[in-house]
Amino acid sequence: MKVSNKILIVENDPDLRDSLKNSLEFSGYSVVYNESPKAIFEDINTYKPSIVLIDYYHPDINSVKVIKEIVGKFREIEIIVTITYPDTMLSNELISMGVHDIIAKPFQAYQVRMSVKKVMEKQRLLVESKDFQRLLEKKIKEQTLSLRLRNQEKQQLLINTIKSLVQTLEAKDSYTEGHSHRVAENSLQIAHALGMSLREQEEVKLAGLLHDIGKIGIHESVLNKRGRLTDDEYAHIKSHPLVSQRILEPIPQFKAVVSIIRHHHEFFDGSGYPDRLAGKKIPTGARILTICDAHDAMTSDRPYRSSLTEGMAYDIMDRNAGIQFDPDLLRIFYKIKGRAITA
Ligand SMILES: [Fe+2]
Repeated sequence: MKVSNKILIVENDPDLRDSLKNSLEFSGYSVVYNESPKAIFEDINTYKPSIVLIDYYHPDINSVKVIKEIVGKFREIEIIVTITYPDTMLSNELISMGVHDIIAKPFQAYQVRMSVKKVMEKQRLLVESKDFQRLLEKKIKEQTLSLRLRNQEKQQLLINTIKSLVQTLEAKDSYTEGHSHRVAENSLQIAHALGMSLREQEEVKLAGLLHDIGKIGIHESVLNKRGRLTDDEYAHIKSHPLVSQRILEPIPQFKAVVSIIRHHHEFFDGSGYPDRLAGKKIPTGARILTICDAHDAMTSDRPYRSSLTEGMAYDIMDRNAGIQFDPDLLRIFYKIKGRAITA
């Protein structure tokens, strides 16, 4: 947007009017005036001047009324008043009405040029600041859009942070090294075989990766204890799904993931923890995770025993079908693992 360099002169004295016109045009301004000042608003609408230069004691107009009307209707126009022997009170009144400058008559042409220059500069700054504001608004819109895009990056960053937490956990609990990744991959395969949506599959995988994150809050002495756990120690271990939940709960996108993790130690017959949910009341992702978690735990070395063979693990899982595990999901798991299904 550009500032108009047009000036409308409302001056009764023709000589003064001509001399002002010449002087201002010489300085590069475009000057208009009308022989009939009563048509001043037509002139304003036609020429759209930036400045109206008014002779306060013009005999053909009520200058106060005209000034008020210009200020009220054309906020972008600045008014300069020329006046013979202005007193302080009148000057103050005009300024408070919104007049930009008052030039006492008789004046030198340069005084008017100076005043006009100041007004033009002020308007240029105003236009620039409006342009700047528009530019700023545009930038903010663009930023908001890119922020939305970056939310995905943020989520990835978050997942990376959590993955490094998993690594921290696995370093702390040396027997479970790689456990979370194997559980995540096996769980994903079951979710895929079940025909779950891509989003649900991703949630199941993420839950697999993060299911034991709460073990970060379990004492190493308990986590890596050789031999039987006391009741208190077992209760302490059992708190890990809730600790996982507390860690992940603030992330709104993880609502479903958190639910899976909370329930990954529920038993199909309702004898698990923390809520003793049974059957299909246990989220599907959690029922999947229970199978993969138990299988991987049995086939990995633990502090209290060496790993079981696949066959031994399957036997135990068979015996717990319908007790700990969802039998339908167990069959899918066996199929994925290439185990011949007899039942
Ligand atoms: Fe667990």
